[in-house]
Amino acid sequence: MKLLVTGGCGFIGSDFIRWILDARPDLQVTNLDSLTYAGNLENLAECEANPRYRFVRGSVADADAVDAAVREAEGIVHFAAESHVDRSLYGPVDFARTNVEGTVVLLEAARRHRLRRFVLVSTDEVYGSLAEEGTFTESSPLAPSSAYSATKAAGDLMALAYRRTFGLDVVITRGSNTYGPHQYPEKFIPLFITNALEDRPCPLYGDGRNVRDWLYVRDHTRGIWAAFEGGRSGEVYNLGGGNERRNVDVARAVLRAVGRPESLIQHVADRPGHDRRYALDTRKARAELGWAPDIPFERGLSDTVAWYRDHAEWVRRVKSGDYRTYYERHYGIGNRLEPGARSLEPEIQDEKPTSST
Ligand code: DAU
Repeated sequence: MKLLVTGGCGFIGSDFIRWILDARPDLQVTNLDSLTYAGNLENLAECEANPRYRFVRGSVADADAVDAAVREAEGIVHFAAESHVDRSLYGPVDFARTNVEGTVVLLEAARRHRLRRFVLVSTDEVYGSLAEEGTFTESSPLAPSSAYSATKAAGDLMALAYRRTFGLDVVITRGSNTYGPHQYPEKFIPLFITNALEDRPCPLYGDGRNVRDWLYVRDHTRGIWAAFEGGRSGEVYNLGGGNERRNVDVARAVLRAVGRPESLIQHVADRPGHDRRYALDTRKARAELGWAPDIPFERGLSDTVAWYRDHAEWVRRVKSGDYRTYYERHYGIGNRLEPGARSLEPEIQDEKPTSST
């Protein structure tokens, strides 16, 4: 089968391509990626010589590039997205262009060329925020908080509309917070790992008690492929790690794994509209796809720390250029990480994590 993967040079997309080329020798993979700041050809260096792999540079919002790529495909796994909540504070229009317009351009091409299956890789953030208790199921209402999650929710709704109106075979996965090797270090875990390795402060938003459910990237990859192969058309599948942790506990775990003191944690101003807690009910994916996450958080984290430690050159290259501009703007002087700034929030007391499995 000929599979089109969009956004394959990013974090989860590149893990998916590395895995699928190995796991499925019958597949040919075309990777359509526009190489924005977070897309990195180095992530797929080991696949370049594979005759079953092809890279095409192009944006999902470019109808001609998309048409040419979709015309030759039988199925699509759509990863391409602007994915960082904090960046959506500064450039919501870019998020709408890629996550909404790009998704519709791709859906339209898939309809025209009668593709067999379209998997949209989405996020648990479309459900909004949870209080202390409860989990989101696939039928929970969509209540996104950020420009990022609102554009992802819009993409989900367009995909479902293409299924209902045009009969396109669409399946949506909604993953929880994903971590692992190759993640761009603007996200919480790789930011804390790489800052800690450089003995720099690690900026913890607000009271640090926000809870995320952590999923190791390879578990996420397997879930997406299980949805492609076994998901029912028009259905949504939650893919959660079952590893709920408060941010402060993740921060401490990272510093322990890196071997640096907790004093590197610096309390900084909160993210506007910061969702308090995410947690997913994953019974549907377990029952229908036979999927379950496999990697315990402690093991996933120590493998991830080891990867960043061993890839200092990758980190150095990625943390130059655009990264520095963004970092200064978001955390720099006059913003979050003002030198000498005191803690903006009360000290965090030790508490038990909300849950863990
Ligand atoms: O839940 C799935 C989502 O997870 C994905 O759809 C998004 O693409 C992905 O970015 C992630 O969203 P979050 O906003 O939860 O991830 P992030 O790594 O940015 O932040 C995780 C938590 O850590 C969140 O509560 C904010 C906090 N945080 C983050 C950063 C970057 C900090 O305390 N300090 C930081 O510097």
